[in-house]
Amino acid sequence: MNFSRLILFSFLVSLHFQVFSQTQTYKEPKFHANWSKPSEYPDRIVLNFGQNPSSEVNVTWRTNSEIKIAFAEIALATAAPKFWKNGKTIQAKTEVLDARKVVDAEVLAHYHSVEFKDLLADTTYAYRVGDGERWSEWFQFRTASDQPNDKFSFLYVGDAQNYILELWSRLVREGFRTAPDAKFFIHAGDLINRAHREQEWHEWFTAGGFIHSMIPSFPTPGNHEYRAKDQKESEAKLRSLSVQWRPQFTLPLNGPKGLEETVYYMDYQDVRVISLDSNRDHEIQATWLEEVLANNPKKWTIMTYHHPFFSASGGRDNEELRNLWKPIFDKYRVDLALQGHDHAYARGRVAPGENVMDGVNVKDLTGTVYVVSVSGGKMYDLGDDWTAKGGQRDRVAENTQLFQVITVEGNRLKFESYTAIGELYDAFELVKGENDMNQFIELRVNAVPEKNNSNTIPYRD
Ligand SMILES: [Fe+2]
Ligand SMILES: [Fe+2]
Repeated sequence: MNFSRLILFSFLVSLHFQVFSQTQTYKEPKFHANWSKPSEYPDRIVLNFGQNPSSEVNVTWRTNSEIKIAFAEIALATAAPKFWKNGKTIQAKTEVLDARKVVDAEVLAHYHSVEFKDLLADTTYAYRVGDGERWSEWFQFRTASDQPNDKFSFLYVGDAQNYILELWSRLVREGFRTAPDAKFFIHAGDLINRAHREQEWHEWFTAGGFIHSMIPSFPTPGNHEYRAKDQKESEAKLRSLSVQWRPQFTLPLNGPKGLEETVYYMDYQDVRVISLDSNRDHEIQATWLEEVLANNPKKWTIMTYHHPFFSASGGRDNEELRNLWKPIFDKYRVDLALQGHDHAYARGRVAPGENVMDGVNVKDLTGTVYVVSVSGGKMYDLGDDWTAKGGQRDRVAENTQLFQVITVEGNRLKFESYTAIGELYDAFELVKGENDMNQFIELRVNAVPEKNNSNTIPYRD
């Protein structure tokens, strides 16, 4: 290396050090109050499935209170740009959200929703929403097949909650890039941090962008979706469900009375997907769940709720919930439980009556597989609650944003967990056997090594 090249090399090394190697301090983004305000134009356009996703899709969106009448238009999608000629216009149901006196919300908005019914199975539709003059773009979605064994995938994420626009955005977008055909999107609670806070909901909708308008969401509320609405509730130590939740999602109304749209289920092909609200009324839900599972004609059962039966962290055990609900899961052979709350990753299981699992590529019969995952930027240390309570933990992560892709085809269910940069982190397969017992196959041999606090950029300084 000659002298001038040496100088240039030294300069580049020092530049790299200056640009990339200094420890940055956190610069919090500030959002002006107007940023999240509704306007005459539709925003927060979100899809949900009805109970029967082969024929029922619901759309919800928001405007300011000047828009009193709104519409959705829907048509069979074709490649010809005037596909809308064969479509129809449906007047929306309009709901007023007057949360001007709710702490953190301080908003008056109109939420409009349309339930698209009698759709054709396995068919791509285009829809748009508006007031007759101001319209959204046309979005496309596809209904579920009516063939139970057809292959499909869906996404599942744990708590988004913190640094939502800053850091959940990359995660949700990487999820969409990895599984662009995902048919729905399970959000296992703590979607935001302060239940009624307009800014955070706006971050959630902005981070997901058109993904929310194309892939139906299947959300379950976390403890952070409950908070006192005002001083009175605060003094009485009462908490209310996020005032935006019920207006902004249009979910199947098949849950117990008073728990609608937080406790509900849908039947996607041969999978019954059930949301429970782990924050409240556990006994009422146990009775409801028993009935929903006793009359379940579907091959697969997937549960989502926020507080895990087996905690990934320390000192966060949910004993009452586990003692009440787990026997029902065991009795009806729930296949998969998708949870949140602990801001780390843990995946494991407890076979009914015994703990069986050791190492990779072990095949055995298994009960419910339990997963805790986190998608946003807030992280907790792992603890040993899970194993201390008799659970068997097979894969963990700390300090890592993750999303999951679950693929179901006939008798096989494949679970894959990916990091925020798309690395395969965890994988297994369940194969449906006799008496609803599953064969368990570890598939994580190609996954990246375990990530923990000691081999990742420190979360805390
Ligand atoms: Fe959380
Ligand atoms: Fe939580």
